[in-house]
Amino acid sequence: MISKLIEIRDQARAKILEAKTIQELYEAKSLYLGKKSPLQEILGKMREFNADTKKEVGQKINEFKDMIEKEVAKRQEVLALAEVNKKLESEAIDVTLPAKNIKVGNLHILTKTIEELEEIFLGMGYNIAEGPEVEEDLYNFEMLNLPKGHPARDMQDSFYINPSLLLRTHTSPVQARTMLESKGKPIKIVCPGKVYRRDDDDATHSHQFMQLEGLVVGENISMADLKGTLSAVFEEMFGDGRKVRFRPSYFPFTEPSVEVDVSCFKCGGVGCNLCKGNGWIEVLGAGMVHPNVLDMAGYDSKKYQGFAFGIGIERITMLKHGIDDIRNFYINDPRFLRQF
Ligand code: PHE
Repeated sequence: MISKLIEIRDQARAKILEAKTIQELYEAKSLYLGKKSPLQEILGKMREFNADTKKEVGQKINEFKDMIEKEVAKRQEVLALAEVNKKLESEAIDVTLPAKNIKVGNLHILTKTIEELEEIFLGMGYNIAEGPEVEEDLYNFEMLNLPKGHPARDMQDSFYINPSLLLRTHTSPVQARTMLESKGKPIKIVCPGKVYRRDDDDATHSHQFMQLEGLVVGENISMADLKGTLSAVFEEMFGDGRKVRFRPSYFPFTEPSVEVDVSCFKCGGVGCNLCKGNGWIEVLGAGMVHPNVLDMAGYDSKKYQGFAFGIGIERITMLKHGIDDIRNFYINDPRFLRQF
């Protein structure tokens, strides 16, 4: 009888060790420890044995059940660990795999120029203003001292949508809008934005380009303030020691009007190919706000003065980076755009 018990125990052990999964182990466990297990069956027949055998067989059965239980627990640990390892392995990340090359974009160079200018002006206490690109003739021309039929309207060939609506030809309408909104209070703004003109596109002309308008209105504002402001801006932009020069010009909305040159930042003023030998580069138009413009917007021109300027964003970007064709900004060739 005892040898039969040993045989059962050994079979149980073998089955337990054979189990490859927790599921198989549980099957083996219920086979050898469950209600219908061979040991249980023998226990059921104990009545047939004499007292001595009963005692011996009973002890052995308990001993073997314990053993089998322990074997199951041991095997369970091994299998559980193996399962965790297998899972870890299958979910492992191979950090040696070459990564996908993610291309990071960059801001457009014109956006960078605008942001650089905005930073400089914010540092000088200016606010940033905006206006619509589809603009009323009223703000684009009339409130800027350019009544209907004024010959200077031809200086800026326009895209009209209907007789009173057009694509703005400059950022100056934001001057008129800001003055009306400010209701007589002092103003210090810059306004960046797109403008449109009926020009034929070539290396230096585009039917759409960008400007940054500046407007300061207050008491005791003079040409000296305009000159000092622009000198400070161009020193920041193009380096220390840059000088600014005014030449007389004409704009209907400023009086006097000036064309502003900056001393050449490539040759320092002695003359080179960039400044075409004369040491100065034309960068923008400016002037003192015309009294008519102040009066129309509700500012008493006897008490208030103002200066205004309009910087061509493409132009100064081309100068700064030595770009020779304005069309490069718009054709979206990444080989060009990535350089900045
Ligand atoms: N609006 C003018 C232009 O586009 C530039 C300018 C702005 C001139 C402000 C004087 C004052 O040509």
